[in-house]
Amino acid sequence: MAYPYAHEKEVRVLSKHFGEPEARTVEGWKARGGYEALKKALEMSPDEVIEIVKNSGLRGRGGAGFPTGLKWSFMPKDSGKPHYLLCNADESEPGTFKDREILRWTPHQLIEGCLIAAYAIRAQHVYIYCRGEFFEASAVLARAIEEAYEAGLCGEDILGSGTRIDVSIHLGAGAYICGEETGLMNSLEGRRGQPRVKPPFPAAVGAFGMPTTINNVETLSAVGHIVKHGADWYRQWGTEKSPGTKLFCVSGHVRKPGNYELPLGFPLRELIEDVCGGMRDGRALKAVIPGGSSVPILSAEECEACTLDYEGVIEAGSMLGCASVIVMDETTDIVHQVRRMAQFYAHESCGQCTPCREGSAWVTKILQRIEEGRGCEEDLDTLMEVTEQMTGTTICVLSDSVAAPVQSSIRKFRDEYLALIRRGERVGAA
Ligand SMILES: Cc1cc2nc3c(=O)[nH]c(=O)nc-3n(C[C@H](O)[C@H](O)[C@H](O)COP(=O)(O)O)c2cc1C
Ligand code: SF4
Repeated sequence: MAYPYAHEKEVRVLSKHFGEPEARTVEGWKARGGYEALKKALEMSPDEVIEIVKNSGLRGRGGAGFPTGLKWSFMPKDSGKPHYLLCNADESEPGTFKDREILRWTPHQLIEGCLIAAYAIRAQHVYIYCRGEFFEASAVLARAIEEAYEAGLCGEDILGSGTRIDVSIHLGAGAYICGEETGLMNSLEGRRGQPRVKPPFPAAVGAFGMPTTINNVETLSAVGHIVKHGADWYRQWGTEKSPGTKLFCVSGHVRKPGNYELPLGFPLRELIEDVCGGMRDGRALKAVIPGGSSVPILSAEECEACTLDYEGVIEAGSMLGCASVIVMDETTDIVHQVRRMAQFYAHESCGQCTPCREGSAWVTKILQRIEEGRGCEEDLDTLMEVTEQMTGTTICVLSDSVAAPVQSSIRKFRDEYLALIRRGERVGAA
């Protein structure tokens, strides 16, 4: 069964077996070369595994793009304490829908990556923290974990290596903030899902007070392929600083929205015009949010030369984030969209930090007033000032995530705000 909208320019490493129900079973996964990487890893030392991942240049796919091998190397080598690996399967960033596809189509790809990562960081337990609304995906994953235990791939003495690694699922209850790594740890421990002040960092004091590494589903899913084929093989795609392939979640006003796996560094315009079949109804491109709703908006002009790697998107004026590309055409009401995003963050703020709790609520109210034609020009200065105070001043970056779309939209689409303020006119109705 072909996965919807497969495109010839895709390089399908992680998504190769999407759409194949047999790939969900342990036997089906083995028949596709699965668990060979785990066997190979167990024959190496944990540090050798870390070295391969370091050399591959793999960067975290959960949003920040932090080098994975380097993160693993922060874990103590002989702490004498239990170590934990947390797999972040909370996937709640607006515009993001890639991790759920890995979970529901290739759960063993993730389990294998988790086992290898756990071995490398000397963890005895993996918790996969899965968004509670993923009913189908979490059921598929639970079944796959059961099968992996039955096949001797998890638990005591995996593959006769003498290594013990347990894997369990923990279902979240739908709070966006529990996707933030330390909020996730609190939630896992049964506490209120609020981010922790860092330092201490998770590698020193993480889940249950023990050394912990946390990685995204897509990051961990790439690990098996890297260990099996080597760092150079992975580096054949992407750029020097952003190697490998990446799942791009494209939504909005394109003809063929969906998940596309492409080499990092792929041109944004080519993604829209070619891979996604162009703009819907032949309309003109107005703006793109390239990395999920937490990053600055790019104008159509800024999209022209933008390449989709971590550095390329920064150069264009935004961030790659988790590569969730939200495409907006000329009919889009930017103020309306930004207000909806701010409202989302105001709702999801955990309330610990004043700039975030108060700022996100007030920003939403001001945007709403402007949207309804009751704003004034000074509101734009107030929005810039308030969001400035929300940046870099809080425990986690949810607060910055409100500031990014508000500030970038005022800078790039000021005329739309002014039209609403002066004449109460809205641009488009989307
Ligand atoms: C508010 C907020 C929400 C987040 N949500 C997610 C999420 O749903 N999934 C995820 O993998 N990372 C999320 N992150 C990033 C995690 O904190 C963390 O950086 C990531 O899981 C690390 O994995 P990686 O190094 O493999 O990217 C979020 C961060 C913030 C600040
Ligand atoms: S920035 Fe917001 S979400 Fe993050 S810890 Fe502070 S109040 Fe909570």
